[in-house]
Amino acid sequence: MKLTQDQLDQFETEGWLLLPELFTPEEVDLLRREAVAIYDEQRPEVWREKDGAPRTAFAAHKYNEAFRLLGRHPRMIRPVEQVFGESVYLHQYKINAKSAFTGAVWQWHQDYGTWKRDDGMPEPRAMNISIFLDEVMPINGPLMLVPRSQTAGDLEASHDLETTSYPLWTLDEKTVTRLVEQGGIVAPTGKPGSMLMFHGNLVHGSAGNITPYPRKIVYLTLNACSNHIRTPTRPEFIAHQDFAPIQCVDDDALAKLARSGQKAAA
Ligand code: SIN
Ligand code: MN
Repeated sequence: MKLTQDQLDQFETEGWLLLPELFTPEEVDLLRREAVAIYDEQRPEVWREKDGAPRTAFAAHKYNEAFRLLGRHPRMIRPVEQVFGESVYLHQYKINAKSAFTGAVWQWHQDYGTWKRDDGMPEPRAMNISIFLDEVMPINGPLMLVPRSQTAGDLEASHDLETTSYPLWTLDEKTVTRLVEQGGIVAPTGKPGSMLMFHGNLVHGSAGNITPYPRKIVYLTLNACSNHIRTPTRPEFIAHQDFAPIQCVDDDALAKLARSGQKAAA
């Protein structure tokens, strides 16, 4: 799969790109079921909100076959290789739950701020890829992006250890207001299976989810191999240290796994 020149231009200018329904209902139904099963597990990779609801599950590609295949899927990997012009490796893999009624806020931040300060990543040459596992709607805590804010570079941030269960380098209100005056805010929505790519310096965040509709999104951070992290401080399951280029699986690998599960259950 290759991005068109128009798509590359949109990513370059706006800092984000949505590819609606890139994965089929069959593929995404499998991933959604597996995500729910993972949240039920008691394991260190599953982080919970302060009230105990799941917040995020890290490194699912290491202990779940469906997510292993997703992490090597050509529909995700090839566009990022195209943008960076080189091979990529997996820096981080997480499945954010944003559960019905209880999903908590993600404060305004840039991801590269954390990758640089906590992991020693030299340049913002890593990309976030999100796959919607549920429908993302205007009402269930969609990811909000500040278009063009990637051009502001690496902004001053402070380490927020209080607001949620997850430590984050967050931006102050004055900075966010200034950038929003220039670029506005968008909240890309879409059916399950849609894929959103956004630049490592794009300012983003999301509000809590008080609706009955869960909003599960898988986030892969794909880093250019030459830009591998230099001084990791976080556990391996949060910031990976296997810098080998991702080898893609076949395009139908997830669909085949979904069908084999259906056969086994029949
Ligand atoms: C993130 O910024 O890493 C996650 C935000 C969200 O899932 O809303
Ligand atoms: Mn983020």
